[in-house]
Amino acid sequence: MICERCAVFDSYPLLRPLFFTLDAETAHRAAVKALALGLTADWRKPADPLLAQDLWGKRFANPVGLAAGFDKNAETLPHVFKLGFGFVEAGSVTPKPQIGNPKPRVFRLPEQRAVINRYGMNNEGLDAFLARVKAWRAAGNRDVLGINVSPNKDAVDGPRDYVTGITALASYADYLVMNISSPNTPGLRGLQNRAELTQLLATAVAARDATATSPPLLVKIAPDLTDEMAADIAEVVLAAKLDGMIVSNTTVARPADLPEHFKREAGGLSGLPLRAPATEVLRKMYRLTDGKLPLIGVGGIASGADAYARIRAGASLVQLYTALVYDGPALITRIHHDLAACLRRDGFTCLADAVGADHRATPAGGAA
Ligand code: FNR
Repeated sequence: MICERCAVFDSYPLLRPLFFTLDAETAHRAAVKALALGLTADWRKPADPLLAQDLWGKRFANPVGLAAGFDKNAETLPHVFKLGFGFVEAGSVTPKPQIGNPKPRVFRLPEQRAVINRYGMNNEGLDAFLARVKAWRAAGNRDVLGINVSPNKDAVDGPRDYVTGITALASYADYLVMNISSPNTPGLRGLQNRAELTQLLATAVAARDATATSPPLLVKIAPDLTDEMAADIAEVVLAAKLDGMIVSNTTVARPADLPEHFKREAGGLSGLPLRAPATEVLRKMYRLTDGKLPLIGVGGIASGADAYARIRAGASLVQLYTALVYDGPALITRIHHDLAACLRRDGFTCLADAVGADHRATPAGGAA
């Protein structure tokens, strides 16, 4: 099937039924291996200049990124940018390797266009990750790479594990993310509480400042927050002078219309059911931080219109993962095209002007 927007042969409509005969984790591994081997078409084309943006002193050719969790071990870096992403976030990586939770631990919900996962941060650990990222950078690659770090499940000193990741990886990352919101590592989300977060961020910022390259440092938060928690996080993150926030990780909530057997599966829900709640938490965070903090919007984004809505709600960049399972890589080019059309329709001459536009909307809803 030829993608009408970029004249690339899109094999995903043929491959998807094959992938879906495999259980979700095997399909995920197969997709990672195929990409690591370079078994993909090259979807890159000169990006629409309207989609380009400078953030943290870096050039993002387009605002659509791959979310953490797809490439936990940095295996696909030599080829994943061929899919058209403006940036890619690898990880979460923990200092030591860990095997994660017992299988099965990932489930597709095709009717809901969703996924539930309780991987439990399985990954090969820092040494293997570092070796791959070093080799990739040594080959001269300058694509925008975010690296997402987490503590090991058995960490006695969680902050120290973040410091280990930050210190080791700073030279290779365009930005670093502290994952404090996975529902699958016991106790992790407790780090979002005011006292713990204040302490953690002070320690992490000091570690980042001590590195030679001092890359932007972000936190990734959960969508399942009370108003009080959200206000505390915004205040603490601003006070700590973090460089941004990713909103959001998967949700532990289960919408009423989810089939009963899926409601009983533990883990984080992603994809379409997360779209509305993740947008609302992002909107709230933009307001609570007075639009001063770059936000990356993620959760249920599956179209140019979704990306545009998230940007208007306050996201400077967006990411996706689950929609790729259902739509394949052609989706990324489609989002570029449709997002640019939305921006032009509403009179924006650059992407940055649309960031947070809902918060200062004119009656016509377009450019102020
Ligand atoms: C994730 N996500 C995730 N996030 C993170 O910070 N570290 C991780 O290791 C993972 N692992 C992971 C595995 C799987 C199978 C999924 C589906 C998701 C969360 C992910 O980055 C993203 O925040 C959510 O999935 C919401 O976006 P989508 O999937 O709705 O586009």
